[in-house]
Amino acid sequence: MKGEPQLGRAGTTSSLVLGIETSCDETAAAVVREGREVLSNVVASQIATHSAYGGVVPEIASREHLRQIAPVVREALQQAGVSLADICAIAVTEGPGLAGALFVGIAYAKALAFAAGKPLLAVNHLEGHIYSALMRHQSAKKAGKKLLALVVSGGHTHLYIASNPAGPREAAWHYEMVGRTVDDAAGEAFDKAARLLGLGYPGGPWIAALAERGDPAAVRFSFAQVKAKGQGEANAATPAVLFSYSGIKTAVARTMELRGMKAAAERRREVLVREPNSAPDALLALCEPAALDLAASFQQAMVEDLVRKTLRAAQIQNATDIVVTGGVAANVRLRRRFSEEAAKSGLTVEFPVSGLSTDNAAMIAAAAWPKFLQSQFAPPELTAQPSLRL
Ligand code: KG4
Ligand code: ZN
Repeated sequence: MKGEPQLGRAGTTSSLVLGIETSCDETAAAVVREGREVLSNVVASQIATHSAYGGVVPEIASREHLRQIAPVVREALQQAGVSLADICAIAVTEGPGLAGALFVGIAYAKALAFAAGKPLLAVNHLEGHIYSALMRHQSAKKAGKKLLALVVSGGHTHLYIASNPAGPREAAWHYEMVGRTVDDAAGEAFDKAARLLGLGYPGGPWIAALAERGDPAAVRFSFAQVKAKGQGEANAATPAVLFSYSGIKTAVARTMELRGMKAAAERRREVLVREPNSAPDALLALCEPAALDLAASFQQAMVEDLVRKTLRAAQIQNATDIVVTGGVAANVRLRRRFSEEAAKSGLTVEFPVSGLSTDNAAMIAAAAWPKFLQSQFAPPELTAQPSLRL
């Protein structure tokens, strides 16, 4: 589609991108001006539907996306006070994510682009997460610098060096992976620990709510030191910094067994099966002190490991600016500890604004803006790429 009329360039009709995101369990649409100004950001969560299963059921996710996609897009346009005719392009997540879930968003975006005669832009979900932080960062004086980006979500715990050598704010960023998890993602560990404790899905907000009332020093967790082959060389084949979060789940399970905590977890699970929409506060009466302590200790261990290794990566890469993004970046303690430790080392750290850490479509519309300016339109054969890398 290269060479099509380039609506939206300075002085022409529109600079509004409609973003669509359906990679996992949130059906989302948003309208963003010039990759920065969020006019609307609508997210229909499927949490209540999946929480009974303790995780996302792919088939159910696809059906829910199909049910929600049209009303969510209509709502995003309405809240922005615009019609499809006012949009310069439609951006959609092409991967990574659940194949069936991605298909729904891509098929809908293609049909909408075709019917409205608008160009289609394909966005990597991980770049979207980075843009949710860059949206702020770009407006600062940082463009043209290299940044260290930690994407920490339910599916990823990855470190990238993001650079924008061209300098202008609209230029595309380039990414080099310099760290990753060798097994579970950090968000996955939060989800698994919450599940063991008989709490709801997704686990992060539940653990965070309980952790406020527990003693973070009550249980000690240690992380295996994962060694990369050729450690120190930072390239995609041998990243310098590796995370590992599969062992901590086993440690949580063992602690619960040793301290006789399984019966209380089962009682909480039963309540959640009956009342899947319960909030953490509603379950507090069923949380014994040992459960609160375990949640607090688990959260502290996860946060300290993420902070320590990310700062080490910043040192190795000689990066002075860090962005932390993805669902786990919503964690208040993580934000505080990153800010404290970065300040001690003379580094800056930025996070997405509230509501843009977890999956959303504003980040997809924002990441699409440089692609629109450079006419990097998606081909009509665009399809889902469940294992897409950045
Ligand atoms: O980015 P996201 O919405 O979806 C993926 O791309 O995976 O991230 C979801 C993950 C879940 O694992 C969830 O437990 C975690 O982010 N999460 C949190 C918090 N809020 C969401 N983890 C820790 N603390 C939180 N407050
Ligand atoms: Zn995500």
